[in-house]
Amino acid sequence: MSRTIRRDKGLFLTTTREDYNFVADHGEGDFAYDANGRRYIDFSSFISVYNLGVNGNAEIRNAAKRQIDRLMHAAFTDFYAELPVQFAEEMLKLLPRGFGRFFLSNSGTEANEAAMKFSRLFTKRQYFLAFYNAFHGRTMGSLGMTASKAVQREHFGPFPNVVHAPFAYCYRCPLKLKYPDCGIACADYIRKYTMSKDASGREFAAVFMEPIQGEGGYVVPPKEFVKEVRKICDDSGALLVADEVQSGYMRTGKFLALDNFGVTADIYTMAKSVGGGLPMGVTVTRRSLGDIPSGSHANTFGGNLVAVAAALAAVRHVMRNRAKLSAMTREKGRAITKRLESMKESYEIVGDVRGIGLSIGVEFVKTKEGKEPAVREKQRILDYCFKNGLLLLPAGESTIRLIPPLTISHASLERGMDIFEDAVKAANAGR
Ligand SMILES: Cc1ncc(COP(=O)(O)O)c(C=O)c1O
Repeated sequence: MSRTIRRDKGLFLTTTREDYNFVADHGEGDFAYDANGRRYIDFSSFISVYNLGVNGNAEIRNAAKRQIDRLMHAAFTDFYAELPVQFAEEMLKLLPRGFGRFFLSNSGTEANEAAMKFSRLFTKRQYFLAFYNAFHGRTMGSLGMTASKAVQREHFGPFPNVVHAPFAYCYRCPLKLKYPDCGIACADYIRKYTMSKDASGREFAAVFMEPIQGEGGYVVPPKEFVKEVRKICDDSGALLVADEVQSGYMRTGKFLALDNFGVTADIYTMAKSVGGGLPMGVTVTRRSLGDIPSGSHANTFGGNLVAVAAALAAVRHVMRNRAKLSAMTREKGRAITKRLESMKESYEIVGDVRGIGLSIGVEFVKTKEGKEPAVREKQRILDYCFKNGLLLLPAGESTIRLIPPLTISHASLERGMDIFEDAVKAANAGR
């Protein structure tokens, strides 16, 4: 164990680190380097933060550096500043018509907390609906909606009024049905039970949904499910909040992941890649929802000028290169998926391959027939890849997410996939 890790363990409360001992030192483009100078291909985007490349890109870094020498913090909820206005104007160009009013914060959880409060304020209703396997953050409000792993919630309640419903996780249908014959029974369940027995539909302020569940296992729902959820919101008067913190910002090839389903939300939350590597959260509401009373919600660091300078450079980069970014994300996603599909044919432990663009999950099972989660095999694959210079992150119980920077070169992508396939082959043989 390195000296850094030993000292770290005595100083910090444990977080989620358990998979491998990576001590980050520097990075650029497709690669991250550890404290010994060892190079790793990044297939994690450092949890979907480096969509535009490891350590952002030169435009993002230069914008942040310039701003540090001008003014770092401007107390943006008390005073005014030009950069956040420019940022919001630029981001509006990437959002559906009718948006938006923005609230700027520092993280995904804070963006979701704001969305919870605004939904209550706009509707004067109390309840929230969220889905099993969802991850919306770890502060009290967002944690109430998170339902991915028991350890994330244990002993932390009570939470606000959140009711959970089954998500359309078709590979492991919670209702034990088969898509498409099921007729999207999980959406019916919401109407019949969640929004009539747990509480009446009239009491729900909002339904929170990740268009693609991230931490819960990279679960992609069928289009009809997402459309039904929108309809349920329309019928009940609840707002639809799309948590795009992990799945948004071009990761699927579209700026918003929800756009892949032909549905528009009432509120979007974003973070991770928005700041290009600096902390930044965004909550953006449909204009017709109106404004909030002065003093009802604010923070100290939201709109921090260094973070906003980086975010503005990043969003301008996306605007300028949108078509190219979208095409290459789709094309690389197709290339990875093709290889994974062929691995699924060859290896018993590859149970399910799913994703849109470069938002891809592979679920490992002991046998294809029994679908028992292959937790040990998943860990072996992560270890093998790490030892061979590929950085990956798990999701759900036995899924690995393949989420490289969208800008990754074909050579790094191929090399990374070779390492991944060797790892899967070894884990499959060692069962
Ligand atoms: C979908 C989603 N929402 C919210 C969050 C919380 O974001 P943060 O860790 O920035 O608070 C995450 C973090 O992984 C996420 O994936």
